[in-house]
Amino acid sequence: MWKPEEKIRWTPEIGHLPDTEERAASLLFSPLDAGRLHLRNRTWVPAMVPWRATEEGFVTPAVLDWYGRFARGKPAAIVVEATGIRDVPSGPLLRIGHDRFVAGLRDLVARVREESGGETKLFIQLIDFLAIRRRPERQKFLNRFLAITDAHRKALAMPGADDESVRAALIDLPDAGLQKVLDEREYESLAMGYRERVTDTHLPHIAELPAVLPGLFAAAAQRAVEAGFDGVELHYAHAYTMASFLSAANTRTDGFGGSRENRVRLPLEVFAAVRKAVPDDAVVGARFLADEIVAGGSGVEDACYFGAEFARVGMDFLSLSRGGKFDDAKQPKVGGAAYPYTGPSGYECMPQYISDARGPFGRNFAATKAIRKAVREAGYQTPVIGAGGVHNYEMAEAMLRDGVADVAASARQFLADPDWTLKLETGHGADIRLCEFTNYCEGLDQNHKQVTCKLWDRVQLDEPGILKSSDGKRRLTAPDWKPQ
Ligand SMILES: Cc1cc2nc3c(=O)[nH]c(=O)nc-3n(C[C@H](O)[C@H](O)[C@H](O)COP(=O)(O)O)c2cc1C
Ligand code: SF4
Repeated sequence: MWKPEEKIRWTPEIGHLPDTEERAASLLFSPLDAGRLHLRNRTWVPAMVPWRATEEGFVTPAVLDWYGRFARGKPAAIVVEATGIRDVPSGPLLRIGHDRFVAGLRDLVARVREESGGETKLFIQLIDFLAIRRRPERQKFLNRFLAITDAHRKALAMPGADDESVRAALIDLPDAGLQKVLDEREYESLAMGYRERVTDTHLPHIAELPAVLPGLFAAAAQRAVEAGFDGVELHYAHAYTMASFLSAANTRTDGFGGSRENRVRLPLEVFAAVRKAVPDDAVVGARFLADEIVAGGSGVEDACYFGAEFARVGMDFLSLSRGGKFDDAKQPKVGGAAYPYTGPSGYECMPQYISDARGPFGRNFAATKAIRKAVREAGYQTPVIGAGGVHNYEMAEAMLRDGVADVAASARQFLADPDWTLKLETGHGADIRLCEFTNYCEGLDQNHKQVTCKLWDRVQLDEPGILKSSDGKRRLTAPDWKPQ
């Protein structure tokens, strides 16, 4: 992963632990009742892909264990990982694009209800993504994948040459020369692997996204409700289709790109279709970017506008993330796929302990606060979910008090210790296992390996009944905690 130049080492601290009175007076442990969203307190596990589904996208015993383990910590809400809304193969990522997935998801809901004693609300993140291919081997790309055009013949001064001669000439060129002959997208396909954009409207399936996505999201949301989820989180963040529609880089000319009003149009249409498809008490929120952190991308001002629009149409919560784009991703190895958390924007999404003077904790707070303020000034009380390095009581309470957010979400701290807020709540804060923000977990995610935490995945490996990673070396869930 990319790291800032300064390379300052930051150490998470447990900080002040609240006593009974402080807990009773805290915002973190006070209920939230805002429209359709009712939470027992302000703790939240945001979406995290653990790579535990079957190759066909079904729930497995390991998926049940993963969510069951979080549920034992009784957070107010868990958002199930990004789950594909289409009925297409996508490796071991959960899917919800067909009725055959509902039974497994129903088991997941039952497990969370049981383990949390019904105290945890359960949402599922609905995602659509476009095609991305692995970085090709140079010769194979130039011999097979590249479509030879007259632009290549012209650049090589080979008018009328047949395709085979042009390919041979291209193969002989050094990379610098090749970069001059291929256009930007062709060179990117060679260097990074081919990747579709929402602006590729010459491709019929991309042109028709605005026509098909509302229906696909709505059908997926219906299935989520059928499986028993309390609601859905529309994935409008990071490197995926809906975030690309919101992006300032979206120059579509069909009314769904260009101005902010046009860029937000499809996300609003998707929401309207979903809202119509689910019962009135189902919660429908979205996760979107406070800042894309890439040149030419959307910034905080855009996000303030989007937030107010999402609130205006009646979204039940707004969850803010940051960065995580393909645009500045590292070049993958030949045969590997680009990963949107390897460049500077990826760092902003999941900053690690080696950081700059701003540090890895709360990097998205200022932007999140500005968006919440814009939503309030527009006259809406829609709850805002904030995240980014939240790992202790002081930090979580301060973000709620300072108006950054209404709910404090932590991904990696919950992965490090699924009971951390329960420990605080029950006066056992000293038992908390603090996340070190080393991003070992993120490295596993990047390699499509079952995600675990380095603080617990090699302990008590002989515990009866636990599930282990495919190589048998790691346990897949944190050991249980019993209050002393
Ligand atoms: C292993 C892993 C998988 C993740 N998967 C998702 C995901 O499916 N959807 C999403 O919106 N964010 C995902 N994230 C981002 C987190 O939800 C969160 O925004 C990010 O880790 C920053 O919060 P933190 O500092 O509390 O970890 C993932 C993070 C990790 C570490
Ligand atoms: S592996 Fe564990 S300690 Fe390291 S960043 Fe991930 S959750 Fe935190």
